[in-house]
Amino acid sequence: TNEFVVMGNPISHSKSPFIHQQFSEQTVIQHRYGRLLIELDNFENAARDFFQRGGKGANVTLPFKQEAFKLADKLTARAKCAGAVNTLKLLETGEILGDNTDGIGLVSDIHRHFSLKANAKILILGAGGAARGVVQPLLGCGYQLSLSNRTESKAEAMIEDFKDIGLLRLHKADDTYNDYDLVINATSSGVSEEVPLLDEQCFKPSTCCYDMFYKVGNTAFINWVVSLGVNNTADGLGMLVGQAAHAFHLWHGVMPEVEPVINILRKEMA
Ligand code: ATR
Repeated sequence: TNEFVVMGNPISHSKSPFIHQQFSEQTVIQHRYGRLLIELDNFENAARDFFQRGGKGANVTLPFKQEAFKLADKLTARAKCAGAVNTLKLLETGEILGDNTDGIGLVSDIHRHFSLKANAKILILGAGGAARGVVQPLLGCGYQLSLSNRTESKAEAMIEDFKDIGLLRLHKADDTYNDYDLVINATSSGVSEEVPLLDEQCFKPSTCCYDMFYKVGNTAFINWVVSLGVNNTADGLGMLVGQAAHAFHLWHGVMPEVEPVINILRKEMA
C-alpha cells in the first residue's frame, strides 16, 4: 500500500507520482506515492479509508479540493483563505491537517521567472477555484491585485469574499486602466484552446504574463500574448512542481529542489 497518493478524478494523467519520485530520489527520503482514482460521489469515504489503511499524506486535485477542505480536522491559514485544500497530512494526534500549497507554488514560480517590484500591479483573469487559491499569497507579497472575469458578477462576488484580507480592484470589460506589471491567466480557457477576453492594450512588451495552465507546446494564452509583443512569459509547469515541493515539505520537513524536476518534465513534454 502507498503511504502517499494523489486523489482525483480523472487521475491517470497526473504527473504528481513522477514529481514525488524525483523529490524522493533527490532528498533520499523514501516514500511510496501512488494514484487514487475516487468516484465523484465518494470522496469522504475514500479519503478516510486511505488514512485508516495507513496513508500518511495525500495531494488532492480536481474536482475534490473543496471537499478536502470540508474533510480536514485542522486547516493551515493559507488553506482557510483559499477555501480549498490540495494537501492532506495525517497528524500524530490522528487528526487530518488540510493545507493549500497552490498559492505558494505559484508565487515561488513567479519569483523564479520574473523580477517584480515590491508593489507590482497584477491582474488576475478568472474567478474560479484556481484564482481564489492565489489571492492571499499574492496579497501577502504586497502586490496590488485587480480581477477580471468573463462573468463579471462572479468577480464581484469573489472580491466581496476576500474583502477582509485585502482590497481587490475589479477590472471591468470596458476598463481603460491597463498599467499592469503582470497578468495571470487563472481561467480554464486553455483546456479548450481559448483565450480570456482582455483589451490588447493591457499587454506591453514589458508586461509579464503567467499562464497557470500548461501543455505540450505553448498554451493558447501564451501564443496570444507573444503575438502581441510580450517578452516575458511562463506557463504553469513550474507552479505544478512548486506546489508539490511545498506538499513534500509539509510531509517530510525538507524542501526539495524544483529546477531539476521542471527541466526533466519540460524535456519529456517537448
Ligand atoms: P478552476 O477551479 O480551474 O478555476 P472553475 O471554478 O470552473 O475552474 O472556474 C473557471 C474559470 O475560468 C471561471 O472564471 C471561468 O469564467 P466564468 O466565470 O465566466 O465561467 C473561466 N473561463 C473558463 N473558460 C473560459 C473562456 N473560454 N474564456 C474566459 N474565461 C473562461
